[in-house]
Amino acid sequence: MTTSMPAPDQARVRVLITADEIAKRVRELADQISADYAGRTPLIVGILKGSWIFLADLVRQLTVPVYIDFLTVSSYGASTKSSGVVKIVMDLKCPLEGRDVLVVEDILDSGLTLRYIMRHLELRKPKSLKLCVLMDKPARRQVEIKPDYLGFIVPDKFVVGYGADFAEAFRNLPFIGYIEEPDK
Ligand code: IMP
Ligand code: MG
Repeated sequence: MTTSMPAPDQARVRVLITADEIAKRVRELADQISADYAGRTPLIVGILKGSWIFLADLVRQLTVPVYIDFLTVSSYGASTKSSGVVKIVMDLKCPLEGRDVLVVEDILDSGLTLRYIMRHLELRKPKSLKLCVLMDKPARRQVEIKPDYLGFIVPDKFVVGYGADFAEAFRNLPFIGYIEEPDK
């Protein structure tokens, strides 16, 4: 092979939330969700790619039966700023009509992406539609949107790990970190 990607520079990543802290919070969220959905079978909709590690840990802690589907949307590309333009790259396989739908996403930042997604899914007439996000960066919000379930409020830094990426790198880090700016 002559083509290869440069290795991501992990030395610039500082730990913000440890793997143990994440595991504890995910268990708490799962308990809350299991209690709220008792007697029901929600459809968990993961937004790819950022949600997949969080979703995988979360659903294994739930005590209610669930169905799981995924929606892929285009995000920032290689930039760290929201374009506000959201495109559905891969749609859900499951119909939503009459179902209890819980959307799972990694980060609520400007809110533009999730506002678009929630509005779009609402048109498919779910019985209920709720939102669970691992991290919220309220400092950067541009539109009014509040998660029903929230893991952590994070500072206005670009975070990576536990599913979240910077230009597709760092998703596999077991902790949540932030990328240190070079001259700060
Ligand atoms: P929003 O539209 O600005 O709310 O951004 C939503 C999406 O951008 C999230 O689902 C993330 O995938 C991505 N994003 C926003 N902030 C960060 C970050 O700090 N690290 C990694 N991805 C981020
Ligand atoms: Mg994302």
